[in-house]
Amino acid sequence: MSKKLFIETLGCAMNVRDSEHMIAELNQKESYEITENLEDADLIIINTCSVREKPVAKLFSEIGVFNKHKKPSAKIGVTGCTASHLGDEIIKRAPSVDFVLGARNVSKITEVVHKKHAVEVSTDFDESTYAFGEYRSNPYKAMVNISIGCDKSCTFCIVPATRGEEISIPSDLIVQEITKAVASGAKEVMLLGQNVNNYGRRFGSSEESCDFTQLLQKISKIEGLERIRFTSPHPLHMDDAFIQEFASNPKICKQIHVPLQSGSTSLLKAMKRGYTKENFLNRCEKIRTLCPEATISTDIIVGFPGESDADFEDTMDVLEKVRFEQMFSFKYSPRPHTEAAEFDNQIDSDVAGERLTRLQARHTEILDEIMDAQLGTVHQVYFDELKPNGRVSGRSDDGKLFFVQGSEELLGKIVDVKVTKTSRGALDGVLV
Ligand code: 5AD
Ligand code: SF4
Repeated sequence: MSKKLFIETLGCAMNVRDSEHMIAELNQKESYEITENLEDADLIIINTCSVREKPVAKLFSEIGVFNKHKKPSAKIGVTGCTASHLGDEIIKRAPSVDFVLGARNVSKITEVVHKKHAVEVSTDFDESTYAFGEYRSNPYKAMVNISIGCDKSCTFCIVPATRGEEISIPSDLIVQEITKAVASGAKEVMLLGQNVNNYGRRFGSSEESCDFTQLLQKISKIEGLERIRFTSPHPLHMDDAFIQEFASNPKICKQIHVPLQSGSTSLLKAMKRGYTKENFLNRCEKIRTLCPEATISTDIIVGFPGESDADFEDTMDVLEKVRFEQMFSFKYSPRPHTEAAEFDNQIDSDVAGERLTRLQARHTEILDEIMDAQLGTVHQVYFDELKPNGRVSGRSDDGKLFFVQGSEELLGKIVDVKVTKTSRGALDGVLV
């Protein structure tokens, strides 16, 4: 009988992909099958995120809950970014944890699973040529790492400490991997990296020279691949050639994440982001001019140390000017191993909270206007999931979530859909 694996994934798309990688390794080498039931599991993995403080605090209470409900023989492993930054402290605080595996070490999962209290968290492990795990949580879409780690030093961010230095994966391996995914039914690929458009800056051992724009050109030649998405790019590396390629290449989906973090040039400097408010607005304007159909999403942090009312107004001003279709906004959370955590001008939590509420309320108004304007428009939707009550969901080229009445025949197809009803998070439509 096969063994059962219960895996919980927190955090970003990189983590989702790391979970897929571990699922594939454990299935191929150890015959584990996934279960949704904690009580049935022989192995429980919590794939953690440490970008903000809250999920880290939750980890230990969660381990307690899992201990209560799991089979006595079931093992517990903590993997991902919190595993990287806390290391063996996790086992000291929670001795019931069997192993700790860092975000850069996921391909070692079948080794650590057999060792009691193994801790593998090195951040200089070169995974750039790793075999991509052969498991996809959605058969119609593939996620493919193009780089690992991060070379930036944003002063708020723990990721360089948890995922190590940036290494690009050779382009022929990426093309091979996507070609394989297409042959097994994926028409869409999501290229993943902490900093995708810094691609090509450093390869593990290969001598190649290929930047992100050239990589996009190579990938778009793959026959049968219809849609290319990527996350996350950095505004600093959005040169004209890249925006031109984004706008003119029909296979590249017209949805782009441009993480702002703050609208204030002086805060951007304190964050070490490498661009000003004006640079950022200029890049967004270029995208809107060359590609008016594109949707732009962003990440914003409020309450970064030293943020004055005027700094915050700059952030509100950028929101007003760019009108992001999607905005992920967070209250600043001081993190270990980061410069900003040591700054002596931390902001009062209530002030940050009020600013966050104001920012989100204004964005909600903008979003309502954007979504209402979709009524009656037609989008090409790639259907990839069956939903309850005879509905099927998919995404438009520009990333909007759609629901239509339909059955499995629609899955894996790209079909024109007319919007009949709008809401903040999704659109209902009919096939045309
Ligand atoms: N506090 C709050 N938000 C953060 N992010 C990264 N680090 C922090 C932090 N210390 C946000 C950034 C990033 C997103 C993934 O998480 O906006 O783009
Ligand atoms: Fe979280 Fe960042 Fe790690 Fe992703 S890379 S899991 S967002 S800390």
